[in-house]
Amino acid sequence: MKLKIIFTAVALAIIFFTIGHITAQSEKRMSEKTMENLSTAMHGEAFAYAKYLLFAQHARRGGDKELADMLEKTAKTERFEHFAEEAKLAGLVSSDSANLKDAIKGESYEAETMYREFSQQAEQAGDHQAAQRFEEIRLDEMKHRDAFAAALHNLEKKQTGSH
Ligand SMILES: [Fe+2]
Ligand SMILES: [Fe+2]
Repeated sequence: MKLKIIFTAVALAIIFFTIGHITAQSEKRMSEKTMENLSTAMHGEAFAYAKYLLFAQHARRGGDKELADMLEKTAKTERFEHFAEEAKLAGLVSSDSANLKDAIKGESYEAETMYREFSQQAEQAGDHQAAQRFEEIRLDEMKHRDAFAAALHNLEKKQTGSH
């Protein structure tokens, strides 16, 4: 009986090790250059998506429904095919808590560094309107960061609670 248990345990260990090995191989990280290119490509696709939607809005307001529809259709391809496929390759989406940590990092950078510098630089250059807008957006990013931090806190509380 005892031998049978040991045998089963060893067999299970071998199976798990093999599955783990296969999974690790199929999830082998891509080269640094490819990851860098994926990031550049995703930024471009996301920008194109947002831009084409604004172009479409402009065309629709101007009464050109056909152009608006075409721009929106293209925008959707950029976002839901190109961006999504690249995001999958790059492993952009992870667990909820890892996603939140990633988002907090991004919002923190925008709030504490990027928009602060942009606003100061715009002010120095005499672009007061831009400086003001950067500052307003910076405050929004702080709210995003704080909301994400609160969501992460709740998530971690839930996870420790369920153990
Ligand atoms: Fe594209
Ligand atoms: Fe944000």
